[in-house]
Amino acid sequence: MQILVTGGAGFIGSNFVHSTVRRYPDASVTVLDALTYAGSRSSLSMAGSLVDLVEGDIADAGLVNRLVCDSDVVVHFAAETHNDNSLADPSPFLRTNIIGTYTLLQAVREHGTRYHHVSTDEVYGDLDLDDPSKFSEHTPYNPSSPYSATKAASDMLVRAWVRSFGVRATLSNCSNNYGPYQHIEKFIPRQITNILTGTRPKLYGAGKNVRDWIHVEDHNAAVWRILESGEIGRTYLIGANGELDNLSVVRMILELMDKDPDDFDHVTDRPGHDLRYAIDSSTLRNELGWRPRYNDFRAGLQATIDWYRENPTWWENDKDAVESRYQTQGA
Ligand code: NAD
Ligand code: DAU
Repeated sequence: MQILVTGGAGFIGSNFVHSTVRRYPDASVTVLDALTYAGSRSSLSMAGSLVDLVEGDIADAGLVNRLVCDSDVVVHFAAETHNDNSLADPSPFLRTNIIGTYTLLQAVREHGTRYHHVSTDEVYGDLDLDDPSKFSEHTPYNPSSPYSATKAASDMLVRAWVRSFGVRATLSNCSNNYGPYQHIEKFIPRQITNILTGTRPKLYGAGKNVRDWIHVEDHNAAVWRILESGEIGRTYLIGANGELDNLSVVRMILELMDKDPDDFDHVTDRPGHDLRYAIDSSTLRNELGWRPRYNDFRAGLQATIDWYRENPTWWENDKDAVESRYQTQGA
């Protein structure tokens, strides 16, 4: 099996590559990644010579066409992914998330290649804190930020290419991931590395916003389950019933790192900040038999803290630049 993983030097993609080489030692894995600020060669060092890393842009039609031609399966993770960055400058989000996905779709259409599209629960907008419902495959799209609007657009392109051109694609929309190799601009690693560098964690607004946390290994196991048994044209929601508000997460990180749980700063809230995400993953569970294995968030968070503590060379060169970018936005 020849598998092409776009964005395989990023957070979820690199974890996907590691689990793929463990699971399918005979598979031949090629990563296509532009190595933006969010991608790192070192995230793939564990996979070593088992993986071929091609540095390039998913919007480069010639390159994409050549790589797809040699592949049996394409798993598409590459994206601009950070909401705060999309508020500061939406343009790379439009190019990578929309034009990049379009470029891949044209190539898999031409070569008849199986394609899986990795997307986000943010395409559904947000829920009230006391709303008993969760996002399901039937929830109407209602994205809030430039990031989520471009992901929604890319999902729509995939659906149109399935219906109009018979592309053999599946889609998944997952909730917030945590685990090793996540860029330190994101909430959990930002706070862990703040504490490790002697800085107080930063909480947006009052911290009442709720995210539905899932361990990255559980997300990737679900992607494999969909690749193996998913129905072409279908969308599957991935989530592990991990709803927690941001205040509780910051306090838990501080406690696990032996600090006073109140030792954090409230900072300027994100404009248009989505209030709550919550995923109903019963289709994936009932039809494909997937179950999350990392059900103890506290233990998963402790392991993630340990990973950042033990791997400072992976993140410390980026820390000053990330924090000075946040300072300009008062966060
Ligand atoms: P990330 O930002 O950590 O990694 C993105 C990767 O894509 C990087 O390696 C980057 O170099 C690469 N990339 C960016 N632009 C590119 C381009 N034009 N051409 C080639 N490569 C390019 O992202 P992540 O958190 O690992 O997210 C991966 C995917 O999963 C995204 O599609 C995201 O929307 C989706 N997703 C993420 C989460 C989450 O919680 N992180 C949840 C649900 C869905
Ligand atoms: O739901 C899936 C999405 O989860 C993915 O599609 C995105 O790519 C991924 O980045 C993530 O989006 P969020 O905006 O939810 O993640 P982020 O880590 O940026 O923030 C999580 C929550 O924490 C959010 O409510 C904002 C808050 N926050 C974030 C940062 C960086 C803080 O309170 N302080 C911070 O310093």
